[in-house]
Amino acid sequence: ATSIKVGLAGFGNVGKGTYDVLQRNKDLIVKRSGTDISVKRVVARNTARVVPLVAEDVIVSSDWKDIVNDPDINVVVEVMGGIEPARSLILEAISKGKHVVTANKALLAEYGNEIFAAAEKAGVNVAFEAAVAGSIPIVKGLREGLAANDVKWIAGIINGTCNFILSTMRDTGRSFADVLAEAQQLGYAEADPTFDIEGIDTAHKIMLLAAIAFGVPVNMQKVHIEGISKLEAKDIKYAEELGFRIKLLGITKNTNYGVEVRVHPALVPNRRLLANVEGAMNAVVVKGDAAESSLYYGKGAGGEPTGSAVIADLIDIARTASVDVSERPKMPTVDSKHNANPWA
Ligand code: HSE
Repeated sequence: ATSIKVGLAGFGNVGKGTYDVLQRNKDLIVKRSGTDISVKRVVARNTARVVPLVAEDVIVSSDWKDIVNDPDINVVVEVMGGIEPARSLILEAISKGKHVVTANKALLAEYGNEIFAAAEKAGVNVAFEAAVAGSIPIVKGLREGLAANDVKWIAGIINGTCNFILSTMRDTGRSFADVLAEAQQLGYAEADPTFDIEGIDTAHKIMLLAAIAFGVPVNMQKVHIEGISKLEAKDIKYAEELGFRIKLLGITKNTNYGVEVRVHPALVPNRRLLANVEGAMNAVVVKGDAAESSLYYGKGAGGEPTGSAVIADLIDIARTASVDVSERPKMPTVDSKHNANPWA
């Protein structure tokens, strides 16, 4: 494409981070993508707050249909979060032939089958690097860097809020509730922090990685989920005395009886790299048959770190928009040949 006109839905932390990085690094993004990528419209609940934060030629409004109905917009960036209206926006955008970039792990984990099938039919991309582990290019890592591997398992610390809570409780002896309040203040937590502390956000992300690595359709029903809300300061202290750190892990494994996906607190020996991932940082270990173990580490939340991944997808679309859809990376859906679900 010679130009990409973006409709940006959502102007919270991630929306603003995406917009700011696009502006700041405009020249190098044009050079690398061969495409002029610019935001034409922003849709946000509070338009008065957004207007002073964007350039004068950006149209700001509060109805998501404004993006879908603008024939000039060829890529929709959805960073609103939540199920509705994000789901309707994405499905309507796809039906109008627009590519989609989203950071919405909850939506893709719950409705991914429907969305990926619609995109395949319409011949558009649904890209979601930003949905898993923020800035860390783990989606591209699995699809590109590790594409030669028969992946055996993936294990990750992919919820910054939980890791911040566990690390801070250990370092300071402060209570769970107290540290959670701080994580919310720092902007790591989801709008509903239950998603973080009960392991649901981790489950959404590891489910998406399982789908990419093992070609199984997303299916949250099959995920075993246990969060960190029942942990106490003394659990962390005793673990420490025995030479372990407690980490909330998302784990997926290809086993003889099918693909396993689970989330639970785990005792990680303190000499392991994963045990030393502190604060709100994320890390993912992938075990492949050829590459063996590799580790990906970085910021899993925050405006610009997540915006970095959103823009990587925009650049990817700029480079591959003319490529036949059948040659683009595909997600398994219930309608696809991957329907042979080993869990069923
Ligand atoms: N609430 C998430 C976290 C944000 O704490 O990691 C990024 O998905």
